[in-house]
Amino acid sequence: MKIKAKSIQQLFPSPLMQVQLDLDVEKLTEFAVQMQEQDNIGAQKSNVRGWQSKNVYEEKHEEFEKLKKEINQYLQEYNSEVFCGMKFRHDVKLCINNIWININGKYHYNEWHTHPQCTLSGVYYIKHDGTEENGLIAFKHPIPSGINLLYLDGDLIETPNEVTAEKVCIIPASNALMIFPSWLEHRVYDNLKDDVRISLSFNAFLLHPDAYYHIDQFEPEWKRAHNDNT
Ligand SMILES: [Fe+2]
Repeated sequence: MKIKAKSIQQLFPSPLMQVQLDLDVEKLTEFAVQMQEQDNIGAQKSNVRGWQSKNVYEEKHEEFEKLKKEINQYLQEYNSEVFCGMKFRHDVKLCINNIWININGKYHYNEWHTHPQCTLSGVYYIKHDGTEENGLIAFKHPIPSGINLLYLDGDLIETPNEVTAEKVCIIPASNALMIFPSWLEHRVYDNLKDDVRISLSFNAFLLHPDAYYHIDQFEPEWKRAHNDNT
């Protein structure tokens, strides 16, 4: 890489894509509730209290199909914008691997976590009233905590920026889609409202298109690892 006379480059950034969709969240709420009624036990991962579904990728529902299409579209945009300049040995495509639903009542939240063994992850908010009390999503600085590379005296900082903040909090809203690297640690704070918060999370991989079409033929161990909702 050539050095220009002067440049400041963001090395190793953590790109977060945010898009406001225009889907029918009422229909998607019905779908989410229907999934919960079919499997009230669900899965236990990063959720503290709250309900998390198993993989619903194959479920058939008109509005859910539209949502999958939108997610796919923005995954490809993320791919072409964020992974631009990369050269691959084969044609690759970002493929959704699994999707799960989160229904969080009062005082339900998700602990800090990453989504191991995936390329990109994301969340789409089906039901969120756009207030802090309904629960923030937070992303943690990728430098491990305890290593203060900047040697900044916290008392001197009134407002940090994206370079110096330990975490960045975002207030979600219904129909908001977020896509981020799977290694980026994140959490969702307590829902302090009486009304439920409903979101849908997903993982995606960069795969050779042939591998995607034959994904069902992969070894069970591989499939187990890659179907692990986090
Ligand atoms: Fe997550």
